[in-house]
Amino acid sequence: MKLVIGNQKSYLDNQEIDEFLKGIQQVNNSNVIICPSAIYFNKFKDKGILLGSQNVSSYPKGATTGELSAEQLKSIGVNFSIVGHSERRELLKESNDDISLKIKCLLENHMVPILCVGETLEQREKEKTREILSTQLKEAIGTLSSDLSEKIIIAYEPIWAIGTGVVPTNEEITEITKYIRDFLKKHYNSNNLVLYGGSVSLKNIEQLNRIDMIDGYLIGGASTKREEFLNIIEKCQ
Ligand code: PGA
Repeated sequence: MKLVIGNQKSYLDNQEIDEFLKGIQQVNNSNVIICPSAIYFNKFKDKGILLGSQNVSSYPKGATTGELSAEQLKSIGVNFSIVGHSERRELLKESNDDISLKIKCLLENHMVPILCVGETLEQREKEKTREILSTQLKEAIGTLSSDLSEKIIIAYEPIWAIGTGVVPTNEEITEITKYIRDFLKKHYNSNNLVLYGGSVSLKNIEQLNRIDMIDGYLIGGASTKREEFLNIIEKCQ
């Protein structure tokens, strides 16, 4: 069984999310987490689906206009949150320090951070992938104890694979996710869940499922297409 996390980004409007939710009752598997736009959390209330947010404030609840605090998310039953997605790192200039604060807020509220890490194509071509990943991990996790760092789910998402239809080979994913596991073991003595993300679809899920080194997937575009998403979930049981 693989963990399946849907990151619906800002794709669906109100009508489209209602359409998506029709017939989604069947998703009450413990290995599925959906991260819809926060404005739709209420629509998922009676669906029995585990919920995650796509972001969280780096501040506790209070005077932070426009932010969603971990306390608020937790209070409506959201137990997971993506942090450090490359789109936020790039477009909103989110730093590893910001991400570290977000992780602390989540852990203080007994929520599970889903930490995205990954290299650009240029970094990959310059053979800097390991260096980039170790910096992202070290700066985001900081000085957390082994017990706390182990609660973080890591999503390895090569930036060049996100939304492009290009997916690394199984060997490449195995090699890099093994590197991530070894790094976390060595520096934090923690055994984390490690996912792969980037253009996961119904077309490549069977191929990807052969990778023992990964515990599941973070899925963007394909998580917004109900039939495809349900089929992927089925193949991950
Ligand atoms: P994608 O996105 O599946 O559309 O490539 C993955 C992600 O950004 O988490």
